[in-house]
Amino acid sequence: MDCSVLYGIGGGALPKDILSNQALAERFHLETSDEWIVTRTGIQQRYLVAPHEHTSDLAIQAAKMALLNASLDPEDLDFILLATSTPDHRFPPTAVLVQEAIGAKKALSFDMNAACSGFLFAVSMADSYLRGQNKRFALIIGADTLSRMIDWSDRTTAVLFGDGAGAILLKREACREPKRGLLHTCTFFSRGYEHLYISENHNTCAIKMDGREVFRQAVSGLEKITRQLMLETHISTEDIHWIIPHQANKRILETVAHKLNIPFSKILYTGDQHANTSAASIPLALWEGWKKGLLKEGQLVVLQAFGAGFTGGASLLRL
Ligand code: ACO
Repeated sequence: MDCSVLYGIGGGALPKDILSNQALAERFHLETSDEWIVTRTGIQQRYLVAPHEHTSDLAIQAAKMALLNASLDPEDLDFILLATSTPDHRFPPTAVLVQEAIGAKKALSFDMNAACSGFLFAVSMADSYLRGQNKRFALIIGADTLSRMIDWSDRTTAVLFGDGAGAILLKREACREPKRGLLHTCTFFSRGYEHLYISENHNTCAIKMDGREVFRQAVSGLEKITRQLMLETHISTEDIHWIIPHQANKRILETVAHKLNIPFSKILYTGDQHANTSAASIPLALWEGWKKGLLKEGQLVVLQAFGAGFTGGASLLRL
């Protein structure tokens, strides 16, 4: 039997423009405050792309870093899966721009849009592809530039999002004991697409959100799916070293942790620094965790995702 294991520590990319809550309010003339944003969301700052920058620029940077950190030749890649809801173009896939830029000549490359759940679903798909097709290496990227989809006069959404990209490498290898890599994934759907979507009108896009409904559904979905994952894999909360969630909102994460009886110190939280970077948030948090020395080989990690749809999931990973 084969397993898909993490290969190297991955990579990440953030734009140069760092905007504190105060600077955001001033730049976009928003009636808000640092105190309101920090108290309600945990967010202290976000990174925004410049007008000339695109999702592919961030994805390419993160991909190159993941390859460099693992000393992997891009020609060894069999598969590139890019989770994004903000591709550079409707076609070609942004993954193909990454493929060309890094020189991954033989890889199958395409994009996947599952909003904020995209990265978690992409890891599961890449694992199936590697094992099902007898392939060796996959590059999975989560990259988004949701700042392009924001109505900057709407304070209820403008304060929540940031831009970024994160990437990991998966390698198929023969399983050893204890099993490493992606061990199990559970997913869910709960209807409610009208509560979180991007409206498109005459080439202008804007995120529309019913924040309270998103909050309610995120908490109940994430609690339920994490319990299901623990049940199906026969683990308890004590076995888990880290939960690495989609970084939507600190209050959502605190509420879920409380309901699961998991101390918040086990939640790898980076939303204060990055805000909500959609498909990029989980791989960016993973990358930060490795860089800070918090993550160590052998640890059991739960990835949690929730996104527009609503969709979501939880994956169990042994590093
Ligand atoms: N600054 C100051 N005041 C604000 C702001 C702001 N940025 N935004 C809203 N307000 C005001 C509202 O207008 C309202 O004023 P009123 O009482 O005079 O009408 C007041 O604050 C309270 O508004 P609520 O919407 O009730 O505030 P709530 O406590 O629900 O917090 C929030 C809003 C932070 C959006 C919350 O609902 C939430 O966290 N929801 C989850 C949304 C989320 O995380 N989305 C991310 C995308 S989804 C994903 O990634 C899965």
